[in-house]
Amino acid sequence: MWEARPPTYEDHMQKPLIIANWKCNPSTREQAEHLFGTIKRETKNINGVKIVICPPFVWLPSLNGLSLGAQDCFWEKDGAYTGEVSPKMLKDLGCDYVILGHSERRKYLKETDEMINKKIKTALKSDLTPILCIENISQLKKRTKDLLRKEQKKLIIAYEPVFAIGTGKPCTPEKAKEMKTAIKKIIDKDIPIIYGGSVNSQNAADYIKMAGFQGLLVGGASLNPAEFIKVVKNVARACPVVELRSLRDCAPKLF
Ligand code: PGA
Repeated sequence: MWEARPPTYEDHMQKPLIIANWKCNPSTREQAEHLFGTIKRETKNINGVKIVICPPFVWLPSLNGLSLGAQDCFWEKDGAYTGEVSPKMLKDLGCDYVILGHSERRKYLKETDEMINKKIKTALKSDLTPILCIENISQLKKRTKDLLRKEQKKLIIAYEPVFAIGTGKPCTPEKAKEMKTAIKKIIDKDIPIIYGGSVNSQNAADYIKMAGFQGLLVGGASLNPAEFIKVVKNVARACPVVELRSLRDCAPKLF
């Protein structure tokens, strides 16, 4: 259920997070409203997961009733930076989250680890929760290099192996779990770590139940309402809210 208050660390640790990354889709406001409205309606009675929708910037003002995130932000709060969007502006539009460091931004826009590091710091100053995407440990180290422990604790880390993004070839839960263990050696071990890359309704619950991830970042499947709703339902079924005080109860052997 959507709540009109900023998310807390406890929220992220207690319910699996399902984050929809719409990327540069859909092409019209009408389609965006329809997709959002369908997801909102069909998931309104599901309490066991937290859904966050990350549409393109331009559709943000038209959408409400589920938690919102942006797909990027700039590292300054305002000024002469043509074309950029600041965290403060996103907060004003009702965003609580921002995806940072997605591999497509490195590939197509030459975004560097240094830029991402600056973006994390500015996002945190505006009370946005960064969903920091990483493909490997080296990126994790560089992007979080000088963050204080209390700043680190406000992040969500998304492990997104590049071979799995948009390819239909997901990383196996076993391999993904190995990476999760490696991440926990570098960064505060209580930070939520989610998995992204070719997630669909068939494999979604495995990353949570078998590999112990705190949630999922869903790209392609989030644009198909029926498939995305199945992802949500399958994860909710795998971690029933009645028994769930925290994900530790859901998959005790994994922590
Ligand atoms: P995908 O994208 O689910 O289409 O692989 C995931 C992502 O890029 O965040």
